[in-house]
Amino acid sequence: KRIALVTGGYSGEAQISYKSAVTVEQNVDREKYDLYKIDICNEGWLYDDGNSCTAVNRNDFSVTVNGAYITFDAVLMCIHGNPGEDGKLQGYFDMLKIPYTSCDAATSALTFNKRYTVAVAAFSGIRVARSVLLIKNRFTNPEDIINTLQFPVFVKPNNGGSSIGMSKVNSPSEELGAAIEKAFKEDDQVLVEEFIEGRELTIGVFRKNNEVITLPMTEIISKKEFFDFEAKYLGKSDEITPAQVDETVAEKVRTAAKKIYEVFNCKGIVRIDFIYNEKAGEPFMLEINTVPGQSEASLVPQQVKAMGWTLQEFYTAVIEEAFA
Ligand code: DAL
Ligand code: MG
Repeated sequence: KRIALVTGGYSGEAQISYKSAVTVEQNVDREKYDLYKIDICNEGWLYDDGNSCTAVNRNDFSVTVNGAYITFDAVLMCIHGNPGEDGKLQGYFDMLKIPYTSCDAATSALTFNKRYTVAVAAFSGIRVARSVLLIKNRFTNPEDIINTLQFPVFVKPNNGGSSIGMSKVNSPSEELGAAIEKAFKEDDQVLVEEFIEGRELTIGVFRKNNEVITLPMTEIISKKEFFDFEAKYLGKSDEITPAQVDETVAEKVRTAAKKIYEVFNCKGIVRIDFIYNEKAGEPFMLEINTVPGQSEASLVPQQVKAMGWTLQEFYTAVIEEAFA
C-alpha cells in the first residue's frame, strides 16, 4: 500500500512534527508499505524524494515523480497543530475519500479546542479544571478571572500544543496580564484554567480490531515550574513509564481514558493528559492530543516500548486502523 506520511504544518509545532516524522519513517514496515513523506509548510506542499522536491497536486493529493502519477491509499498524519491536528486536513481528505490515521474532522476540531474539550468531557462525567475563556479584542474584566478562579492558574492558547505560549500564574498580579498577552500572541482565544494539585499522568490510547487499548501510562515529574516546552523536549523532566502508581489509581486513569476515547469517537493513537488529585480520588482530564508526538523525546514511543511492542508493530496497527 502507498502511504503518504504528512508532516510539517503551519504552527510553532512544525519542528516537533518533523522530529515525529523521523521516528515514524524509521519504523514503518517498508515491506508492507511504500512511504512518501510530504511536507506541508509555508513554502508549499512538497514531496521530497531525497534528490528533488515535487509539488503535490492539491486537486487529488497526487504527485508525479519521474513521469509516474502517484496517488495514496492512506495518509499517516504526522502534523501537530494546524492543519493536521485541528480537523482542516481531515476535512480535505474526507472530500477526496482518502483514509487517514487520525480522528475525523469533527473530533479533531473539537479536541483541538481545549475549552470545548473540557466542556464535553465534563458533560460526560469526567473531572476537569474550572476555567475562563478570553477572546481577543473582546472586553474582559480581569476581576472576572480573579473572582471566578482560584490561583494558581494556567494561562494557555486555547488552540495550541507543546505548551507554546503557556504560563503558570501563582497569584492575581501584573504577571496575569503579561501571561494573557503572551498567550494571545499564539491564538485569538486564551484559556485561563485553575491549577489542579496532583500527579501528572499521561496515557496513549488506540483501537485495534474494534478493541480500545491503553498503553502503559507515564508519570511526568517536571524540573521546571510545569511541563513546559523545555521540560517536554529538552530533557528538563523525568518521565517514568510505566508510572509507579497504585493499581487503583492506574485503573481509574485507564477507565477515564477509554471512556474519553469512546465519548469523543476517537480514531488512531491519541494521548490523554491527566492530573490525579489525591483528595478527590479522581483523575482530572487536561486535554486530548489527537496527533501525539512521536519524537525521540516524546511519550507515546516510550509507552509502546513499555508495552513490549516494537514501534514497527505499533505503526502497522495504526495504519491498518485507518482502513477499518
Ligand atoms: N503536542 C505534542 C506534539 C504532543 O502532544 O505530544
Ligand atoms: Mg497538548
